[in-house]
Amino acid sequence: MISKETNVVILTGAGISAESGIRTFRASDGLWENHRVEEVATPEGWAANPELVWNFYQQRRRQLLEVEPNSGHHALVELESYLEHFLLVTQNVDDLHERAGSNNLIHMHGELAPLRCEECGHVEIMMDENHLGENFLTCNQCEGRMRPHIVWFGEMPMHMPEIEKALAECEVFIAIGTSGHVYPAANFLHIARRHGAHTIGINLDPPENVYFFDEFFQGKAGEILPHIVEKWTTE
Ligand code: OAD
Repeated sequence: MISKETNVVILTGAGISAESGIRTFRASDGLWENHRVEEVATPEGWAANPELVWNFYQQRRRQLLEVEPNSGHHALVELESYLEHFLLVTQNVDDLHERAGSNNLIHMHGELAPLRCEECGHVEIMMDENHLGENFLTCNQCEGRMRPHIVWFGEMPMHMPEIEKALAECEVFIAIGTSGHVYPAANFLHIARRHGAHTIGINLDPPENVYFFDEFFQGKAGEILPHIVEKWTTE
C-alpha cells in the first residue's frame, strides 16, 4: 500500500514518547504532573502565577536531558528515509523526533528546548545548566522576560497553513499516540479523508476519533511501528 512515491503525512502525540518515560497528558486523572491544565497551560495561568508555570516547564525541560528516543521514533526516521514525500507533524514539545534523526518535522504546539521573549518574540535554545534553574531568564536581545515556547490553550498552533496544505495533498495519513481530544490536531484525520487519503491510527487505547480511520492498530507505538515500517519499506 505504501511505495517510495506515496505522499505520507504523520501526526504524533504524547503516546509516541510514553515508552521513553514521558507521561502522556490524559494518563489518568486529568492532571498534568498534579496540576490542572488551566494553571499551567494557558496565558491566564502564566499571568496569574508565572513562578508556578515557569517551574513546571523548567522541570519538563530538565527531563529532556534524561530521556532518549525509542524504537517508535527510530521507525519513523526509517520511513522518512524511504519515502520521497513525507511530513511529520508532532503535537509533542519534547525533542525526541529530531534527536532520533527526523528531518521534515513540524512542532505545531511549540518546543521545550527553546524559550521565547515575551517582549520582542526572540526565540533561542536555552538548555545549558545556567538556563534550567528556578529563576526567570531574560532575553539576550532586549532583556524582556522569556516564556516557554509552547502553544497554550487559547493560542494559535504553529505552521497551520503548511500543515493544511500537506494534509490536502497526502495519500496516506497516519496518527500515532494521540487521544484525538485536542483541536485542531484532532481534525487532521477528517481533512485528510476529505481529500481522499487512506487513514491509519496507531494507539494504545482507541482514540476519540477511532471510527474514522480506515485501519486501526491497537498497541504500543514502539512495538507496532518497527514491524509495519519494515513491512512497508521491504515489500
Ligand atoms: P494524550 O495524553 O491526550 O493522549 C495520548 C494517547 O497516547 C492516549 O490515547 C494513549 O492511549 C496513547 N498512548 C499511550 N502510550 C502509548 C504508546 N506506548 N503507544 C501508542 N499510544 C500510546 O496526548 P495528546 O493526544 O498528544 O497540547 O494530547 C494533545 C495535546 O493535548 C498535547 O499536545 C498538549 C495537550 O494539551 C499542548 O500542550 C498545547
